[in-house]
Amino acid sequence: MKIISPSLLSADFGHLERDIAMLNESACDWLHVDVMDGVFVPNISFGQPIVKAIKRYAAKPLDVHLMITDPDRYIRDFADAGADIITVHSEACIHLDRTLKLIKDCGCRSGVALNPATPLVMIENVLDICDLVLLMSVNPGFGGQSFIENTYNKVSAFRQLREQRKSSCLISVDGGVNLSNAPLLFNAGCDVLVAGNAVFKSDSPQLTIQKLKQ
Ligand code: DX5
Ligand code: ZN
Repeated sequence: MKIISPSLLSADFGHLERDIAMLNESACDWLHVDVMDGVFVPNISFGQPIVKAIKRYAAKPLDVHLMITDPDRYIRDFADAGADIITVHSEACIHLDRTLKLIKDCGCRSGVALNPATPLVMIENVLDICDLVLLMSVNPGFGGQSFIENTYNKVSAFRQLREQRKSSCLISVDGGVNLSNAPLLFNAGCDVLVAGNAVFKSDSPQLTIQKLKQ
């Protein structure tokens, strides 16, 4: 599966409607929505009201990446705001099993993200209730950072784990994805690539999305 999920963190917040319309017309599959609380990560982005506004214009599923502490408090709000997939960080959840079940109870697909330094063992026991595993290839908090090469090892290790556990959850990679590493990541077995700067800072975002997919 080759899913491209452009990250709206790199869009022009003054022209979100225009940028979403551009993505609606593009070859991308999902819209990646980065929510940051200034506590779990050293940056603040936006919350539920903006997600609700994005939903009004988006013609594709919203892939909401919560970089917030204790996300259980807000999962229902983000589901109500229009999230289709909700991804929480394993590092931010004390009761990850409960959190993932809550996401599903709210009618969304569940995702769990791991920071670059977090080992895969942290999610071994929740694979059966998880639809997506998001491997961070930068330390979360900002767009435009450079890709951490160890991600390739993590992707292949995760593929083995997924096979052992007979899980069908998707593998997503987020951070520093560009036209050079995208083919290598898809070859390594990724299902979903998130890309912010590579898409929005390019001369033709739609063409870049098409190239990322190939
Ligand atoms: C980083 C966010 C990413 C970010 C990706 O904390 O989770 O989704 O927007 O941006 P690029 O592709 O520019 O690294
Ligand atoms: Zn993200």
